Amino acid sequence: MGGDKDKEEIRKQIEELREKIRYHNYRYYVLNEPEISDAEYDRLFKELEELEAEYPEFITPDSPTQRVGAKPLEEFRTYRHSIPMLSLKSVTDAGEVTEFDERVKRMLGVDTIEYVVEPKIDGLAMELVYKDGVLVAGSTRGDGWTGEDVTQNLRTIKTIPLRTLSEALPLLEVRGEVYMPVSGFRELNEELGRRGERMFANPRNAAAGSVRQLDPRVTASRPLDFFAYGIGRVEGREFSTQWEILNYLRSIGFRVSELVRLFDKIEDVIRYHREVEERRDELDYEIDGIVVKVNRVEYQNRLGTISRSPRWAIAYKFQPREEFTKVKDIVVQVGRTGALTPVAILEPVQIGGVTVSRATLHNEEELKRKDVRIGDTVVVERAGDVIPEVVSVVKSRRTGAEKEFRMPDRCPVCGAEVLKEGPIRRCVGVSCKAQLKERLKHFASTRAMDIEGLGEKLIEQLVDRGMVTDVADLYLLSRMKGELMKLEHMGERSTEKLLDAIERSKQTTFARLIYALGIRHVGEHTALLLAANFRDMDDLRNATYERLVSIPEIGPEVARSIILFFEQGSTKELLRKLEEVGVRYENPEAAEAGAEAEKEKPLAGKIFVFTGRISIPRDEAKRKVEQLGGRVTSSVTKKTDYVVAGEEAGSKLRRAQQLGVKIIGEEEFMAMVKEG
Ligand code: IVH
Repeated sequence: MGGDKDKEEIRKQIEELREKIRYHNYRYYVLNEPEISDAEYDRLFKELEELEAEYPEFITPDSPTQRVGAKPLEEFRTYRHSIPMLSLKSVTDAGEVTEFDERVKRMLGVDTIEYVVEPKIDGLAMELVYKDGVLVAGSTRGDGWTGEDVTQNLRTIKTIPLRTLSEALPLLEVRGEVYMPVSGFRELNEELGRRGERMFANPRNAAAGSVRQLDPRVTASRPLDFFAYGIGRVEGREFSTQWEILNYLRSIGFRVSELVRLFDKIEDVIRYHREVEERRDELDYEIDGIVVKVNRVEYQNRLGTISRSPRWAIAYKFQPREEFTKVKDIVVQVGRTGALTPVAILEPVQIGGVTVSRATLHNEEELKRKDVRIGDTVVVERAGDVIPEVVSVVKSRRTGAEKEFRMPDRCPVCGAEVLKEGPIRRCVGVSCKAQLKERLKHFASTRAMDIEGLGEKLIEQLVDRGMVTDVADLYLLSRMKGELMKLEHMGERSTEKLLDAIERSKQTTFARLIYALGIRHVGEHTALLLAANFRDMDDLRNATYERLVSIPEIGPEVARSIILFFEQGSTKELLRKLEEVGVRYENPEAAEAGAEAEKEKPLAGKIFVFTGRISIPRDEAKRKVEQLGGRVTSSVTKKTDYVVAGEEAGSKLRRAQQLGVKIIGEEEFMAMVKEG
């Protein structure tokens, strides 16, 4: 019958569309080399959705449209692994790695061994089962023998193929790590913080919390990713090396870390360990070491396992970023905008080569949730460039003598009332000295008014002695030279230098002045945007909400904050005073012809990423780019226009090569910014 034949045609058409979508998914997510535009991809996807809506009988679970479909579960079922998921023995120093190498060689009776080195990703181990190329189950590692069946949730992760590409083995168990990218983790936490919801201590916990959601829609909304690093059972194919396994996994649609390497000398492995450790902050995923694996499967089998760990692999860890220490006290810090932050004063402890003696507890709710008390033993984490934070309390170490801490109802510095705004308490005192000190620090900072010599110690004294009551008072200090010279660490020369720096700062740019005012939610980038879109302070002060939100990149929250700032009586007074004392600005950002000129700037819309060492400070390079209308971001994506590679450029450079982003050297960069 004709009808059946037509239907068969449609089924084929649907299957072809799916093939295409899978292929482009792979180009995009795994290879980072998309062949078609996002819009084109969306069009294909929509076409498939529409066909499936019309012919629901052809919907199959491995269709790309079927990632989030299932209903919330009551609980997770247990899942038994057919081959146990082992754990790794960890070592921390080079000597132990050499011993490992010697032991392996001795046991095998060979002189050289090839090792595959992989990053040890700090996420959660998972097993994915594919039957005839289709994902049928996904589970957590659990105790190694039995885990939890989290199939529904793993299906929502875009880098986990629902169907393998090119080849469909009767059975393939893929093992790897689910993790949350650091950038995604930061965004998620900010969002949770804004909503007053529980934040996650680190990307690993965030990934765990997201995978263990009974409602797959929640998991789908979380930025999760997957790296494959091994296999369990396989039917229909044999592998002779780990390297071959990794390449195979990559070829059938899985992401494999770009950091994997093959070495045949243990010294090279040790050197690579150091190299990766130095670069770990550049990665968008957390790693806590490298994994060293004997490459040949036959050797692996001969070496076997001992007490749940293979003899053929070890985890060679980096310096820990977490340490135990004691909370000596909890104090409250008052920020520039009056926000009260509880801070733990710690018994000093070395973490990754840095002494840590304070750690943030974020806000009252976090403090309560973690139940940190004075006298507690806690785990403190210092991750890369982030401020140290208390991760958790070791409750088993409690003696009963610990003291609970309560957030004050009044500002600990000025005694003014404290208001609750969601999870944040804020001091409302208009003349709060703590706020003033923070405002002054910000005002004087290099990227704001750039007043050299006005450091924290000096600010303390100026405020405590009442010599400065707002930022404009700085410009009246020239009348108090005698008093200034009497302050601690201030001689005649340093006083003169300071007064010179203050005088010089009077001549500034509009963008810097806006930034220096410390309006909530207005960072450097927003300040530049505002300067480009408003003539001067009067123009900005009278801006309506509508005008503000019409500027791309300025959202409702930022717009409201700007309006609120200018509505304050104290703001009007301050602006008047700044003008009176002689603060003047020009506005190179602003356009003679409004925002149009912005578009005509030589680097308008161009996105730059710097990597490696260049001979001018990064700040300065960034400023140059921004003055010419460009932007600087920290990670390389498809949208990046130029990667400026300095000496010893690392993973960002490789990523740029992978993505085909234009790479330029310092000289070329300097020539580019000079032209403008
Ligand atoms: S292999 C045969 N490779 O580390 C050894 N594990 O203690 C089994 N991990 O539970 C693991 N990155 O969660 C292996 N490239 C990698 C890994 C890795 C992270 C984790 C995994 C496992 C733990 C081992």
